[in-house]
Amino acid sequence: MQTLKGLILSGGKGTRLRPITYTSAKQLVPVANKPVLFYGIEAMARAGIDEVGIIIAPETGEEIRAAVGDGSRFGVSITYIVQDEPLGLAHAVLTAELFLGDAPFVMYLGDNLLQGGIEDLVAAFRSSRPDALILLTPVPDPEQYGVAELHDGAVVRLVEKPAEPKTNLALVGVYMFTNCVHGAARAIEPSGRGELEITDAIQYLVDQGMRVEPHIVQGWWKDTGRLGDMLAANRLVLDTIEARVAGELVDSQVDGRVVIEPGARLVRSTVRGPAIIGAGARLTDCYVGPYTAIGEGCEIRNAEVEHSILLAGSSVHDLAGRMESSLLGRNVTIGRDERQPRAFRFLVGDNSEIGIL
Ligand code: DAU
Repeated sequence: MQTLKGLILSGGKGTRLRPITYTSAKQLVPVANKPVLFYGIEAMARAGIDEVGIIIAPETGEEIRAAVGDGSRFGVSITYIVQDEPLGLAHAVLTAELFLGDAPFVMYLGDNLLQGGIEDLVAAFRSSRPDALILLTPVPDPEQYGVAELHDGAVVRLVEKPAEPKTNLALVGVYMFTNCVHGAARAIEPSGRGELEITDAIQYLVDQGMRVEPHIVQGWWKDTGRLGDMLAANRLVLDTIEARVAGELVDSQVDGRVVIEPGARLVRSTVRGPAIIGAGARLTDCYVGPYTAIGEGCEIRNAEVEHSILLAGSSVHDLAGRMESSLLGRNVTIGRDERQPRAFRFLVGDNSEIGIL
């Protein structure tokens, strides 16, 4: 078989993670302090794929280029492909046609996380040589995804976000294709939401009698498009980290699976894992509880934080109650201030959410 290429989709609008995605690409939101997108690139590298194309949007593309670079630090070579408008996943494939040529390829949605990586799938694709290979997993809310119907183990119907799903088998955002997908992407019409759906392109392959092989995912999978999914992905990845304390602990203690990055400093504080504290963070008189990822240079003082993600440069101080299940963007400040009159004072962007005790 020809050498496999990789295509990672990192364009789109990220509307479901606003306000974070007003200023940043959703694929760069960190899970356990590492951008979601990097997990996909690493999965490609581990599967031996070294030519990777990344679809970017005009608005967030520069930020992605700056974060990922030429790919050498991942051991892959990256080609950036600008998609002028987010007209759908199959449109992204057509946009990448020049890069892909005739090669078979793995397509990976840049906001997806797949625990087991893609090595086994690549091996299955190489050995059984289907026209396409799709991944499926049972979910409690199939109407949020592409949904598959199987008959005797074969794919018979794929529907994008059906109002009344026939099964609970969701399409996972990792696909393998031969070059026949280009013709399929050209043959289909935009869906009700105005996108060229990859789900419809695969249905077209099925209708043409092509071999579309379904695989049920072993291990967990997360689409990190919403806050709850982001926190869940953070939990799942933190559960797998290895304890490592490189920062400085002064009258402080860490329990369990905790990573303290270099330059971080804890004073009179407790961190109970699984948790990660980013480089240069300052924790003073505070408690950080399980499933928390504190970004680089954050400052937490006289406060308790649990089951949360704080992006770089944020600060939390002097809280009367514990903060939990929260996602703070970059350079956010949350704290008590002693000014009179005593009142809540907010400076909050569009579509933010604040819950008060
Ligand atoms: O996560 C799995 C689901 O992903 C599948 O079950 C669905 O069948 C599939 O359509 C897709 O649904 P989403 O609505 O979650 O896709 P989303 O718009 O979030 O886009 C997925 C990724 O692709 C995201 O990183 C943004 C990027 N993208 C999206 C579009 C529409 C592009 O690069 N270009 C685009 O035109």
